[in-house]
Amino acid sequence: PFKKLEDGLFSAPSSKESKDTTVFNVNESESTVSITVVGASGDLAKKKIFPALFALFYEDCLPKHFTIYGYARSKMTDAELRDMVSKTLTCRIDKRENCGEKMDQFLQRCFYHSGQYDSQDHFAELDKKLKEHEVGRVPNRLFYLSVPPNIFTDAVRCASLSASSGNGWTRVIVEKPFGRDSESSAALTKALKQYLEEDQIFRIDHYLGKELVENLSVLRFSNLIFEPLWSRQYIRNVQLIFSEDFGTEGRGGYFDNYGIIRDIMQNHLLQILALFAMETPVSLDAEDIRNEKVLRIPEMKLLLVLCIAFHFIPVFILLAWCQVKVLRSMRPLQLENVVTGQYKSHVRGGITYPAYTDDKTVPKDSLTPTFAAAALFIDNARWDGVPFLMKAGKALHNKRAEIRVQFRHVPGNLYRNIGTELDHATNELVIRVQPDEAIVLKINNKVPGLGMRLDRSNLNLHYAARYSKEIPDAYERLLLDAIEGERRLFIRSDELDAAWSLFTPLLKEIEEKKVIPEYYPYGSRGPVGAHYLAARYKVRWG
Ligand code: NDP
Ligand code: BG6
Repeated sequence: PFKKLEDGLFSAPSSKESKDTTVFNVNESESTVSITVVGASGDLAKKKIFPALFALFYEDCLPKHFTIYGYARSKMTDAELRDMVSKTLTCRIDKRENCGEKMDQFLQRCFYHSGQYDSQDHFAELDKKLKEHEVGRVPNRLFYLSVPPNIFTDAVRCASLSASSGNGWTRVIVEKPFGRDSESSAALTKALKQYLEEDQIFRIDHYLGKELVENLSVLRFSNLIFEPLWSRQYIRNVQLIFSEDFGTEGRGGYFDNYGIIRDIMQNHLLQILALFAMETPVSLDAEDIRNEKVLRIPEMKLLLVLCIAFHFIPVFILLAWCQVKVLRSMRPLQLENVVTGQYKSHVRGGITYPAYTDDKTVPKDSLTPTFAAAALFIDNARWDGVPFLMKAGKALHNKRAEIRVQFRHVPGNLYRNIGTELDHATNELVIRVQPDEAIVLKINNKVPGLGMRLDRSNLNLHYAARYSKEIPDAYERLLLDAIEGERRLFIRSDELDAAWSLFTPLLKEIEEKKVIPEYYPYGSRGPVGAHYLAARYKVRWG
């Protein structure tokens, strides 16, 4: 990884990059990276960002010269920040070498500056402190905005005007939510672009940093056995499932303003769907992959050919088609294809589990969905008619994130009359993103013995059994990528627009019609309506 890091940091910028990167032909000893965690006193910083930075340091993936600054309004000394951070650091279980020593070295590189998010002066003070650590080196700066979204613009304005790098790069990682509908998302992008170029903005969707989500392209594009099957011809339906066995406790204030569709479906599940369904990218280059998620290249090519062949196609039609996005080639979501739910209190084993509305930060009459299931369709040649079913919920009976691909029935199956269940058993590919990462292919198999009985068995790639190495947290990969300037796993603004266009009309309709969610007990499998929805498309949830 270190070699890659050097390439990313110190090679000359490509023509695509603008003020993000200045030409450096320097080696690592002449440059430094200052990472500022804005909102360092918060939950995400403690839980994810500092531990991920430490993990990178522990793995020798951070550049030789780096400094980490925590920035927030809370008053804290450097020692207090170190004390706070030290409580959440862990060493790789497969290594555990010099753990304590490494933690001390890491903490010595962590500092704190207290300031307001809308004060250029306070960011100028930060700038002064950063410069003290950067003396004699080309300064590169990464700001991680780990604050509520209403603070993003102020923080970006002040950081960019008062604390940008003079002659190195400046990048900003922006946490979700990126708005709550098309308009607010566009307004946020516009506001950020007053101070930053698009290629300085790294919009995080941490699901893209998960090992099995990243592996999705490898599975598809490097295995001959899968890619030919990856279409309506062989795939009956695709399920994208997210469930958590805990509620929104502690985050009710945020959640009530967003709901599960914005919190999980519009970003994490939709991104997985785009990676799953996209055409083969031209290369692994970030822009090629993001183009495939967004632009419908085959249609563009076809239109260009038609345009040349038949001179009468007006240019504006061509242009309109060229703007069509793969996410936009999805059929607009309709309320009748969506089920919403909200968890209610439930007593189990003598323990009372709270209702969503028991949270003091949630209004008693809130209709915000904590569960949703939806059927989506991609109207293109590859996926025409294949239901993509999404399901996401809080306070369900288990915690998992999975992609399940159910294949069609074998035509004229010779064995269709053997066994009972098997009349309907089709192959299924399960990509278990978490927990207990695995790829499982369900096949039909003869039960050993003299008779002829079939059985459904698993070809199982179980990560814990196959690989001894601990799987890095998504935030580690994404932070490293941002330091390297690798944008492949970050969301481009046109992708974001497309994602919001798909969900905004539905969200508005749900809110305007005050759709009442179906109530489900805390810890259950969710609303029964989700099963009816799936049944309408002849699907059974896996
Ligand atoms: P917090 O609510 O903990 O906020 C982070 C920090 O921002 C706080 O410590 C506080 O610092 C400051 N802050 C909080 N509220 C306000 C306010 N109203 N005005 C000014 N400053 C405020 O957020 P999280 O750490 O949980 O999340 C940070 C970002 O990451 C958010 O955008 C969130 O949506 C996103 N996110 C969080 C996840 C999580 O698991 N926590 C998961 C995915 C995304 P101080 O008072 O010291 O200035
Ligand atoms: C976040 C959501 O984006 O993802 C949370 O805001 C959710 O509501 C979290 O709990 C799930 O992430 P993970 O990595 O724990 O599956």
